[in-house]
Amino acid sequence: MTELGGDNFRTSMSLLATGVTVVTTTTHEGPVGMTASAVCSLSLEPPQLLVCVQQALPTHVALEQSAAFGISVLGEEHVGVARRFATRGADRFAGLTMRDDIGAPILADAIAFFECRVEERHPGGDHTIFVGRVLRCGHQPGRRPLLYFDRAFGSIESAEYRLFRAWSEAGQIS
Ligand SMILES: Cc1cc2nc3c(=O)[nH]c(=O)nc-3n(C[C@H](O)[C@H](O)[C@H](O)COP(=O)(O)O)c2cc1C
Repeated sequence: MTELGGDNFRTSMSLLATGVTVVTTTTHEGPVGMTASAVCSLSLEPPQLLVCVQQALPTHVALEQSAAFGISVLGEEHVGVARRFATRGADRFAGLTMRDDIGAPILADAIAFFECRVEERHPGGDHTIFVGRVLRCGHQPGRRPLLYFDRAFGSIESAEYRLFRAWSEAGQIS
């Protein structure tokens, strides 16, 4: 299908596999955040990234007023976190260990994180592009990312595990 009608644009975009993050900020009422895959490296010097957030969302309202945001990159074990931060009405931070140094809460066991100062806001259709100056970042080597593809969560399968699975399916391993 080549037309823009119906669900074609969304479905076509859903085949662009992405990592999954949680973007967070702090308000007077406490932390807010949501699952976001529209996160992209923007500049190396200065270090900047961008996140695209739909204008109708509560996190957007908070980001409009906030000076800082955090990006926590989720690992393959974080499917529940990704779902929770995409569910309206969920108690998103319950039971999670977060740390917050600059008004940008970070998931303690994120596989990578970025603490950003909001530098620019650009309108982008029904979204806003928030450009963040990265003040601090870090990562945990050896961790595997959570992926989002074709509207489903997944993970990278190692060559060893693929071999193991092939053997299992062939009845070589029980
Ligand atoms: C894997 C995944 C990625 C998402 N990425 C984005 C994104 O980049 N930008 C965005 O505005 N919404 C994105 N969403 C949708 C928001 O997470 C969701 O609409 C929001 O959290 C709904 O809750 P709220 O209205 O209470 O904020 C994504 C959802 C999922 C499941």
